[in-house]
Amino acid sequence: MKKRILITGGAGFIGSHLVRRFVRKYSDYHIYNLDLLTYAGNLENLKDIERSENYTFIKGDITDQNFINKIFEKYKFDSVIHLAAESHVDRSINDPLLFAKTNILGTMILLNSFKELWKNNWTNKLFYHISTDEVYGSLGEAGLFKEDTSYDPNSPYSASKASSDHFVRAYGETYSMPYVITNCSNNYGPYQFPEKLIPLFINNILCNKSLPVYGDGNYTRDWLYVVDHAKAIDLVFHKGKNRHTYNIGGFNEWKNIDLVKLLCDLLDEKLDRSKGTSRQLITFVKDRAGHDLRYAIDANKIQSELGWSPSVTFEQGLSKTIDWYLQNKLWLENTTSGRYKEYYKNQYNNV
Ligand code: NAD
Ligand code: TYD
Repeated sequence: MKKRILITGGAGFIGSHLVRRFVRKYSDYHIYNLDLLTYAGNLENLKDIERSENYTFIKGDITDQNFINKIFEKYKFDSVIHLAAESHVDRSINDPLLFAKTNILGTMILLNSFKELWKNNWTNKLFYHISTDEVYGSLGEAGLFKEDTSYDPNSPYSASKASSDHFVRAYGETYSMPYVITNCSNNYGPYQFPEKLIPLFINNILCNKSLPVYGDGNYTRDWLYVVDHAKAIDLVFHKGKNRHTYNIGGFNEWKNIDLVKLLCDLLDEKLDRSKGTSRQLITFVKDRAGHDLRYAIDANKIQSELGWSPSVTFEQGLSKTIDWYLQNKLWLENTTSGRYKEYYKNQYNNV
């Protein structure tokens, strides 16, 4: 009998890379992709594998208890890899309750259905929760987030993810549910919705629009190519220790302003524009409320215990990413039409 794996949020950015990897690599697994197809979910991201025999898409809401109970009863998933979430900090500032509902309640509902199904026999079962480094809060100029760093979230997004992490651990302790959690740094790559820094700025450069850098631009993030995240999830899913947390990061810190300048220069080169053209679009705008100064991950545990390491340098990953957006202008046009325009106007006041 095939292993039945539920991947939630598989039509989103990271989820689509993970679904693709698992469907292609593991013909002895059946992959069920559960996604509500919010503004961030897009089945175009999975066109290449949608007809695979070992793949089923289920449209539905993780916050709908009855529906979730029904699909667990029907498909009897052996494992869950849970990515479905509201994922953008700026949106969480405008609508914190939605983040609490999806990220906290939605996770609890999945945990509960999983527990009800397997509480009498947890053999070969796993709940794998995908989380973020943002739960640790903000670093100063020095230091790294380790697996035992205290949680100290600052945004409604990170607070909701922190809360969901706690519930996963609580189900592990209370009901003996096998679980793993990974906390990853900022991802970038193909299929990322153009609300996040890198795809938003690529799109704006292509459209000759301003590049809205928050505050003074001296905020630091640790960037990881999404395919390397999917590779790490694959490893942890198969080899991670029960009830362990693994931090995943790119060993790759960049100040926003430096990253934006690099992006501008790479795009000038690829678009045959003279050097410096895109940098002229940089515009410093009002800072994000509660903006975390610096995130940086110590990824030594996953590297030493499971042998994981990033496969591309940042320059290579960024170059591949830009090429993908240049070759997929229709995808970009479709995602930036309609409701996106409204979002952009509210968020940036059309700078
Ligand atoms: P995303 O916003 O691109 O995708 C989220 C997906 O979840 C979408 O397909 C959406 O339709 C789906 N979804 C939202 N609400 C749902 C609901 N109620 N029921 C079912 N599906 C629902 O997000 P992403 O960037 O791919 O992130 C995926 C996961 O990884 C999230 O849990 C996020 O917290 C975590 N994460 C993201 C990053 C990053 O840099 N993007 C870094 C670390 C961790
Ligand atoms: P983002 O991609 O939203 O990821 P996160 O907030 O989860 O780290 O933002 C990355 C960094 O870029 C963050 O410091 C905020 C900054 N930023 C801007 O300066 N301008 C923008 O328009 C966006 C979306 C982000």
